[in-house]
Amino acid sequence: QSQNSSFWAKYGNFFITGTLWTLAFAAIAVFFGSIIGTFMALMKISKNWILKIIANVYIEFIRGTPLLVQAFMIFFGTQIIGLNLSPFMAGAVAMAINSGAYVAEIIRSGINSVPLGQKEAAASLGFSYSQSMRFVIMPQALKSIWPALGNEFVTVIKESSVLSVIGATELMFQASIVQGASFKPFLPVFIAAMIYFVLTFGISRILALIETHSFKH
Ligand code: ARG
Repeated sequence: QSQNSSFWAKYGNFFITGTLWTLAFAAIAVFFGSIIGTFMALMKISKNWILKIIANVYIEFIRGTPLLVQAFMIFFGTQIIGLNLSPFMAGAVAMAINSGAYVAEIIRSGINSVPLGQKEAAASLGFSYSQSMRFVIMPQALKSIWPALGNEFVTVIKESSVLSVIGATELMFQASIVQGASFKPFLPVFIAAMIYFVLTFGISRILALIETHSFKH
């Protein structure tokens, strides 16, 4: 009991710092991932075959290789070309690029979920492609995109744990520091697991609540 309270007094800050960095990585991933993903989704459904190929290669390559490997490639690859990114920057870039590929598919399938008749109706009213996208298709597509983006945020909270391998100071990295400093192998990772669970479970509940309130009429 007293040993546990002194453990938290000694190492609690590591977990708090790690949790904040983890949330920052997740927010960065989904924010920039959504920007990248929107462009990639629009490129993938466009009629221009060059844009299509670029989007397809990006999406397939990123989704077909592990985030762990992508993080290493960005961290060491940028060093080779003389860009010395900090672990934080390399991690943020890796997360954004990784999430972008998954968000692209979320957005593409959201757009595809809008019935074709809506596009035809917009066209028959004289809407241009970008007008019908903005005023007819996207507002409807967002109904399935928002919840999926919420899930993506929950996913990247967990996925950011692999950034510990490049020294990004997120939760799992902090837990391994505490392992070394306290000579306790289990307790730090157990605490990390509890924190991840509270975050993902809590955020999922909140998102589910928002979803029921905003989409049920
Ligand atoms: N763990 C898998 C990987 O390393 C899945 C990554 C999922 N990423 C995401 N942004 N949804 O590739």
